[in-house]
Amino acid sequence: MDATDLATAQTASASTMQAWQALAEGRCSTRRFLDRSVPYEWIAQMLKEARRAPSGANLQPGEFVWIEGAARLRLTHRLVEAHRRGEPQNEDYSYFPDPMPMVLRRRQAAAAQALYGAIGAAREDVEARREQFERNFRFFDAPTALIVTIDSRMGSGCYMDLGMCLYGFMLAAAARGLASCAIGALASYPGIVREVLGVDASQSIVCGLSIGYADPSAPENKVRTLRRDVPDFLQVVQ
Ligand SMILES: Cc1cc2nc3c(=O)[nH]c(=O)nc-3n(C[C@H](O)[C@H](O)[C@H](O)COP(=O)(O)O)c2cc1C
Repeated sequence: MDATDLATAQTASASTMQAWQALAEGRCSTRRFLDRSVPYEWIAQMLKEARRAPSGANLQPGEFVWIEGAARLRLTHRLVEAHRRGEPQNEDYSYFPDPMPMVLRRRQAAAAQALYGAIGAAREDVEARREQFERNFRFFDAPTALIVTIDSRMGSGCYMDLGMCLYGFMLAAAARGLASCAIGALASYPGIVREVLGVDASQSIVCGLSIGYADPSAPENKVRTLRRDVPDFLQVVQ
């Protein structure tokens, strides 16, 4: 490699790194979208790219259901109804530790406070908070709504693999100027999701996924959550 090649290679990797950092730092959960659709070809291409994620033994776990039109309305209606009736939630898989240790509860509260603070929903404003929560079941009005499922025989490692694929999908979206939000709340009533969408009983409902163009004027889209400092979660042992 001569000096020119080396300079070109270094420039290329510097711009790749900058692009990666911009994507990683720019992605955030978006909870209000513009009424502007995303072409099918884009979603298909983004899924293809996301599927380049590594997975144990290359099992590539996880399926996606794209919901539109009447099916989407039916699903939202049934989930909102169940939620308003106070139907007990019975996810197919356990997400959070129960009980939640205090250190985690603080992180959860900080993320919730960032969101509710941004939309001006005070702690005692139960109605505003309930309304915001119900927007989960409307996919935050995103133009593209997906449900993510996984074969229920899969072990915890396969959920990790699927998570990598989902993050790849979110970054593929961000690279195209699209915004996204994963929605665990959509796994609260898995029986309803399976029934309304005709999802096979062998599939566990993992989460929902909203994709579209962020509404830049929405206060909830201005939320930027914090992260732990590296020394807090990286231990060096020699
Ligand atoms: C699998 C998964 C499920 C999530 N479920 C929800 C949800 O149900 N409702 C919601 O408003 N945000 C949900 N989120 C978004 C998280 O709250 C968000 O990722 C976290 O607070 C960090 O913020 P950021 O994505 O803006 O960086 C979910 C994120 C992930 C990865």
